Amino acid sequence: THPGRLVIVSNREPYTIQTHGNEVRIERMPGGLVSALDPVLRLRDGLWICWEDASKKVVEVDDVASDEDNIDWEKIQLPYDIQPVPLTQEEINHYYYGYANTRLWPLFHYFISQCNFFDERDWPSYVTANQKFADTVVNCTDAEDWIWVQDYHLLLVPELVRKQRQNHRISLFLHIPFPALEVFKILPKRDVILRGMLGSDLIGFHIPDYGTYFLDAVERLLPSEEVKVEREHQRIYYQGRVIQVGSFPISIDTKKIETLVSNPSLQKRAQKLRDNYPVKYIGVSVDRLDYTKGILENLEALQLFFEKYPEYIQKFAFIQIASPTRTAVPAYQRMREEVEQTVGRINGLLSRDNWVPIHYFYRRFSLEDVLMYLMIADVAMITPLRDGMNLVAKEYCAAKVDLSGVLVLSELTGAAYELKEALMINPFYIEEMADSLHQALNLSPGVRQQKMQSLRQTVGQYDIHHWVQSFMDAFTDAINHR
Ligand code: G6P
Repeated sequence: THPGRLVIVSNREPYTIQTHGNEVRIERMPGGLVSALDPVLRLRDGLWICWEDASKKVVEVDDVASDEDNIDWEKIQLPYDIQPVPLTQEEINHYYYGYANTRLWPLFHYFISQCNFFDERDWPSYVTANQKFADTVVNCTDAEDWIWVQDYHLLLVPELVRKQRQNHRISLFLHIPFPALEVFKILPKRDVILRGMLGSDLIGFHIPDYGTYFLDAVERLLPSEEVKVEREHQRIYYQGRVIQVGSFPISIDTKKIETLVSNPSLQKRAQKLRDNYPVKYIGVSVDRLDYTKGILENLEALQLFFEKYPEYIQKFAFIQIASPTRTAVPAYQRMREEVEQTVGRINGLLSRDNWVPIHYFYRRFSLEDVLMYLMIADVAMITPLRDGMNLVAKEYCAAKVDLSGVLVLSELTGAAYELKEALMINPFYIEEMADSLHQALNLSPGVRQQKMQSLRQTVGQYDIHHWVQSFMDAFTDAINHR
């Protein structure tokens, strides 16, 4: 129904190639963006433009020196075409670690105090990197293609492509929250960012609130003689064009997860894993180790839970999977230290012979391994202080084919907008979290199953394919109306 190629443009590459001695492995990259878009591009004729050369880059693993010349690159099959955008180390430092991850990321997640670090090379690098991506788009696409720019790293790309190709079909999706006006206002270059985004024909957000905040920003921060915002249809009139705004809650490949967790061999492995934990109940959380995820707050809530409900000592254990991310940014290094100290402190205080309250992993897990932990958990604590969506919450529901398990979910996530039957918590309210965990472990089987059933219905119906379809339909409409 949408002839023409789909062209995804994102900072993050979908795959890396790793060499383990003579063995070459293709590994999918972590994070919500890749896990959502990879199945989409596998099903369509398309191209992925990203920041690294996934077809050439070799990461040496296990200290086994690998000889790049001995690898037969022709034999390495990636699931679709990938077009790399080469960036210098300087650009990566200031565009990715700098402007994107120490300015836009914290601000858009309401971590204003993390934004005061200023390096004057950040902004010029952000512009240069966005220009490189835009030039690659211009060189690799034509007017029949559907160009879909992703996320906060590339907010200038729509305008930079539009300047060179007036008639290209360009859309943008923001995977993180768009903040309320009073917060967005703080951003230096805020008007340049808004104009960059307005190069699109369609701009998508996860939930309606983010779209509303974006319209607020456009209306209040750009000169009124240049833009007109039409609230009713969520349209913006700018430079003789119409820009459509919409909300599209991103999701997961629900069927794929259901198939994986129904596989007897994975079920057997999960059972074995469960046997390793000699407790009655298990709780879990899976996060990138990011200060937005509320990992510390959740740990504090766990300590309070054991203090308030000591009958769960030796009966309940919590598994925290934290994957390394943006490790060159000081705020992430500090967060790792704090998390590890807190885990150590709580375990030191509460452990008994043969029982540890918190099991902590700091490494990357495969999808299957993550699913095993979700399968064996009686409760998932998803506690971000702010999250554009949060796909782990949805994966937990998809993995619970037997209707076991309770989802405890931060109301400050985009996911809370859809997953209404979760037990909602405010992650800034530690006691409420501890009590919700207690409540989760004490729900009657009937209520628990009923909740999980309707959660599963939501993630079954609104899956990743529904997300793509609705975005592409809106994109087509936007093009037809321009
Ligand atoms: C979030 C962002 C993505 C990003 C992912 C992983 O989901 O919205 O754009 O790819 O985190 O972060 P990283 O910095 O490793 O790409």
